Amino acid sequence: MKSYKELPNDAGSNIIGQVTAQANRLQKRLVSVKHTVAIVSGKGGVGKSALTANLATALTLNGNTVGGVDADINGPTLAKMMGVRNAELAYTPTGVNPAITTLGTKLISMDLLLAADDAPVLWNAHTQKDAFTWRSTMEVGALREFIADTEWGTLDYLLLDLPPGTDRLPNVVELIPNLGGVIIVTIPSEVSQLIVKKSVTMAQLLNVPIIGVVENMASYVCQHCGKEESLFSTEESPETAFQQVVLGKIPFDPRLARCSDNGTPYVAEYSDSLASKALMQVAQKIQRFFDKL
Ligand SMILES: Nc1ncnc2c1ncn2[C@@H]1O[C@H](COP(=O)(O)OP(=O)(O)OP(=O)(O)O)[C@@H](O)[C@H]1O
Ligand SMILES: [Mg+2]
Repeated sequence: MKSYKELPNDAGSNIIGQVTAQANRLQKRLVSVKHTVAIVSGKGGVGKSALTANLATALTLNGNTVGGVDADINGPTLAKMMGVRNAELAYTPTGVNPAITTLGTKLISMDLLLAADDAPVLWNAHTQKDAFTWRSTMEVGALREFIADTEWGTLDYLLLDLPPGTDRLPNVVELIPNLGGVIIVTIPSEVSQLIVKKSVTMAQLLNVPIIGVVENMASYVCQHCGKEESLFSTEESPETAFQQVVLGKIPFDPRLARCSDNGTPYVAEYSDSLASKALMQVAQKIQRFFDKL
């Protein structure tokens, strides 16, 4: 899409037409997607991407066809976490084929389009000031193209891993007005709860169904003695803090962090672990949420 500098009086670019056509393509693409779910948190680093990767895998293991969208355009991590960083995208006349994990989950990420590991996303603008002004618009545009131009085929679930920030959800709702629901991720620190409460309010303001809250890093199981201990000292439970359904409390497991780094599916490799069992239960609750509709 051209930048506004190139568009005096539209300059024949038909900018409205371009955006409308893309929005129409997105709506057509979503017709074959049963349920769209955004994984959100106002707070950064709480495990949105790691949970998205594992929930996508868990839903796939349960027999669903699942796609993942790395909606973090500037800090994409999902391709690495799902082990498809080296996938070559195949382009067809009607779109691009997503990367596919060893277990069959489909994925699209900016990471698959960047030339080198250390390459940042640079928006094409005349000056950095212009790029700053237009960044949010360009990010939404890129996301719209991601979803619209990917050959998803028929999907039971499309999970969107959002970047941190309370203000990200409105962008997604602008693209997907009938978003199926959100999963709100927190950790048991007061700092996280303070910010994540704003995500709950934002979802309510936007009338997006809240599937529930997931408390990540809820505890730590000692690798030597097997004793479960708290990592944080929050007094308020997530049930009280958020007044929402709590879908699960996921312990911190160093093997989960390692699997995320290696791109291997933790829930499949360590299916007997406490964290895997909790993640599988969250996946079941997501399915039940939509089954009840
Ligand atoms: N339950 C867990 N056990 C062990 N490691 C975890 C767990 N949850 C997340 N991690 C690790 O913590 C780090 C941060 O997680 P992640 O990148 O998923 O957070 P995020 O919320 O997506 O961050 P950002 O806000 O930057 O997008 C990663 O290295 C991830 O593998
Ligand atoms: Mg992330």
